[in-house]
Amino acid sequence: MTGDTQRSTAAPHAAWLPDGAFAALGSRRVVVAGDGALTGTVAEEVAAATARFGGAFSRLEVGDAVADAELVLTLSPAETSPAASSPADHGEDTDESFRFTREAGAVVVQARTDAGLLRGLFHVVRLGEAAFDGPDADETHAPATDLRMLDHWDNVDVHPTMGQVERGYSGGSIFYDNGFVRSDLSRVERYARLLAAVGINRVAINNVNVHEHEAHLLTDDLGDVVRIAAVFRRWGIRVHLSVSFASPILLGGLGTSDPLDQDVAHWWVRAAARVWDAIPDFGGFVVKADSEGQPGPFAYGRTHADGANMLAAAVEPYDGLIHWRAFVYNHRQDWRDRSTDRARAAFDHFHPLDGTFSDNVIVQVKYGPLDFQVREPVSPVLAAMPHTRIALELQITQEYTGQQKHAVYLGPQWSQILGFRFWEPTGRDGGSPTVADLATGRGKAAEDPGTGTWRKPAGGFAAVSNVGDDEFWTGHPFAQANLYAYGRLCWDPTLDPATLLDEWVGLTFPGAPDAVRQAVHTVLDRSWETYEQYTAPLGVGFMVRPGHHYGPDVDGYEYTPWGTYHFADRDGIGVDRTVRTGTGYAGQYPSPWRETYESLSTCPDELLLFFHHVPYTHVLHSGTTVIQHIYDTHFEGVERVEAMIAAWSDVSTLVDPRLSERVAERFAEQLHSATEWRDQISAYFLRKSGIPDELGRTIY
Ligand code: GCU
Repeated sequence: MTGDTQRSTAAPHAAWLPDGAFAALGSRRVVVAGDGALTGTVAEEVAAATARFGGAFSRLEVGDAVADAELVLTLSPAETSPAASSPADHGEDTDESFRFTREAGAVVVQARTDAGLLRGLFHVVRLGEAAFDGPDADETHAPATDLRMLDHWDNVDVHPTMGQVERGYSGGSIFYDNGFVRSDLSRVERYARLLAAVGINRVAINNVNVHEHEAHLLTDDLGDVVRIAAVFRRWGIRVHLSVSFASPILLGGLGTSDPLDQDVAHWWVRAAARVWDAIPDFGGFVVKADSEGQPGPFAYGRTHADGANMLAAAVEPYDGLIHWRAFVYNHRQDWRDRSTDRARAAFDHFHPLDGTFSDNVIVQVKYGPLDFQVREPVSPVLAAMPHTRIALELQITQEYTGQQKHAVYLGPQWSQILGFRFWEPTGRDGGSPTVADLATGRGKAAEDPGTGTWRKPAGGFAAVSNVGDDEFWTGHPFAQANLYAYGRLCWDPTLDPATLLDEWVGLTFPGAPDAVRQAVHTVLDRSWETYEQYTAPLGVGFMVRPGHHYGPDVDGYEYTPWGTYHFADRDGIGVDRTVRTGTGYAGQYPSPWRETYESLSTCPDELLLFFHHVPYTHVLHSGTTVIQHIYDTHFEGVERVEAMIAAWSDVSTLVDPRLSERVAERFAEQLHSATEWRDQISAYFLRKSGIPDELGRTIY
């Protein structure tokens, strides 16, 4: 899966920062004032834009008289010190807020730190002409959390089965090339700029599955990490590394990596000291332990808190963070064993450890209990650890959602997860904390009656990046919208995904006719739901080809050790996860969800088969039977893909022909694949159930 065939020597696509996105700012008289490395970055951006679009640029000292500027980007007068975001200060509290004021069309962006000023610059870029046009304004903008992170699953070596980028669908890695860290990091620089523009401030640069060669980034190959960190630093982004829990053995020659062994702890202390000596603003370590074959504390009879806290102590002097992943389950289970439920595993492992993790440990939790499916209930772990810093983990790379061959906009899925409330009142404007509140430690997170005060600061957000060295960064050009939306939702989880699409279109296709914007909406607005329609039904998940996870294979995982089953037989389908007769998973939720999911009469249709095993004739809340729902949604899903293609074909000539060509190629594959899904799923269930389609459509 290296995707090397997609490599291109062409300059990478400008994504949401084409020159045209700077037209409004670049045609004005702009002043930049203040010191600090990131103020320098702001100044360079402004200088380039004003040179291109005929504006004027001057660099002044803070507080200097500004005569006729139309835009002033300045550090606050009282706090001109650049130290606030320099490597000397690596606290978690870098203030990235900025104040935006507009008076009679003249705009002032003022920030306490140069990091805030950089965020403010891109705010103005995003607004375009609207930054200068509107009525007088005085607004303060600040991110919902300081922890807005991307995880790269990139390998230094090309892994024999997983390739250069594990679950990467966009060509090779922008960091590594076949065993080496790239000498030319200009692509990383462009990437860092794109990320800065959407507010990402941390990047983990290697795969959570840390193989032999990659483990050495922590020690012998640290010089390469230093180079990468230097590139990101100019854009206000800190670098993190995934590390192997067995590093003391692999790299240090010790006989153990037991977290309670003194030599092991000392090894980590020395390793951390070397890392921070070389990279003073280094972020910390990401750890996948005791998961899918990765080493961990279980081998020594220790808990995950023992493991995480030992590492936390080593990085604590530098305010470093340990992102400890909760994706822990038995991947060697016996499919005959109906008492083991993979969905339960993270909660069963981590809930008992609540309150025992050090202050600088963040437990990173996948949004659902299984594995980034198109539909899963929100992981109950997020609600079960009020005394632990929790990060929500999302997957931008579309492993299970079409692998960037299918146009699937994930903004609506993430928005729904972020807005989910575990406790009553559960309504949209209800009084209980949302998932976003729990991950940011804000809003209602401190007030929940059932759980007391939530741990602060919280753990923020992390997501698996979807970027590679592909000309369009993301394989499918529309998959850029997912990366864009993720960054923006980290900054403000309440943003509307459809509005974010407008932003993305406006920046990416500057000056394009409104028809382009409309077509993108027609294609993407409901594309998540469309993908759900033609793939595994009603929350049951998987049914993908084992290994690479692309395309339908209903029984592909049914008799495997991976714990992802649907239990379809001639009478019915679904996993009984109730407390009364099933695995008890529903009981991991607080009320009211434990009751809601437990009962067939209240379980939402879209999650029915995640929680219940039902006959094909079971009638959904929608009024149709399970079997008829399967037929209807699969036919409708393919029709919707046809409609997406038709909508885009109306405008495809209005955008860059290369982009158009790529989109057309992807659409052809999406239609082919969706048709395959429709026909295989429909045929499988017709054959299993013997119940014909009420509408008599062709099923094979
Ligand atoms: C999924 C994915 C793996 C990945 C794992 C993880 O199982 O298929 O490639 O390593 O998630 O999140 O660690």
